[in-house]
Amino acid sequence: MRGKRKTSRRDFIKELGAMGLAECAWAGSMAQASAAPLRRLAADKGLLFGSSLALKYFVQSAAYQQLFLTQCDIATPEVHMKWNSLSSQPGMYDFGTADKLVAFCATNHIKVRGHTLVWHDALPAWVSGQLTAENGQAMMVDHIRKVAAHFAGKLYSWDVVNEVLDPGSHRADGLRESPWLQNVGVDYIEQAFRATAAADPNALLVWNENYLELSNGFGMAKRRAMLNLLDGLLARGVPVHGIGLESHLRGDQASALGDASYEAFLGELERRGMKIFITELDVQDATLPADTGARDQAVAEIYSRFLTASLRQQALKGVATWGLSDAFSWITGYRARKDGLPVRPPPFDATCQPKAAYYAIAATLQSASHRG
Ligand code: XIL
Repeated sequence: MRGKRKTSRRDFIKELGAMGLAECAWAGSMAQASAAPLRRLAADKGLLFGSSLALKYFVQSAAYQQLFLTQCDIATPEVHMKWNSLSSQPGMYDFGTADKLVAFCATNHIKVRGHTLVWHDALPAWVSGQLTAENGQAMMVDHIRKVAAHFAGKLYSWDVVNEVLDPGSHRADGLRESPWLQNVGVDYIEQAFRATAAADPNALLVWNENYLELSNGFGMAKRRAMLNLLDGLLARGVPVHGIGLESHLRGDQASALGDASYEAFLGELERRGMKIFITELDVQDATLPADTGARDQAVAEIYSRFLTASLRQQALKGVATWGLSDAFSWITGYRARKDGLPVRPPPFDATCQPKAAYYAIAATLQSASHRG
């Protein structure tokens, strides 16, 4: 720096502002220095660590991009591979943005979790409008073939089916009354896995599901339903390789998390040969105290309790949060606080600084046993 004007923090931020970069860049670069990369702590234990990723956040904040690159070795497209992101007209697909994400990840040696092929949500209007019992199977399989074949060989895994269980549907098998169940039939899950395996034989094929983490009546019903259905699928040779536990945790459900019944459930998945992934981890703080310190502490304790129990299971191979920074958490729109204060579910704050949640995640990774 000799001979050059030393840049003050304020000047630096002003310059970044002039360059159109987010103001949290300075704080972000400071965070890099103080926060050991979670992907490194995970890799030391034979684990993957990552987050969901939407490219627009990188455009809004260079610091966020830097944070992502520092912390993650696996990424899940938050929206770009969902059916309604890929196709707005019947049969027409635009892979442009998803391809950009895959290329960005390839350049930076980040594995991509494809998300998601068959879901009751995020369907384009044309699919919902056209779907019938006559064409349901063809529409589902055609979509899988097109999309899985397009990315074949480039993805670490596919969330083949997403959120297919719902005790609220009151079926003996626990399946959700989804458009796919209604228009394809009970074997739609089997068909989806077989079609994905045929189109992309190298991807790890995952059943991604929500609320399995919850040791209450709802969560336990989902666990029972999953194990029953999984037994049938595996007996028929259906290529199901892994289970994704979304893990959108809630501050007011701390007592239903990470207990012995949860660990026993993970053991049941392991006995069935499943690789297990925590795929969309965050902690909703809508009902936690307004005070930032107290709130961050409560959130951190939930991360710690849940991850400690999860990481005891050797079949658990990776952890991904649903966003890294408070600036870009989907919870802002999904479950806001009644007092209007900004929500703080991810491990880094809105300026990309590590919070208590980051340190809790780091500590659980550091005390996890090594896995092969
Ligand atoms: C969410 C995204 O974060 C939002 O941006 C989008 O509007 C709705 O979907 N379970 C899933 C994810 O499997 O795909 C969802 O992502 C969150 C719940």
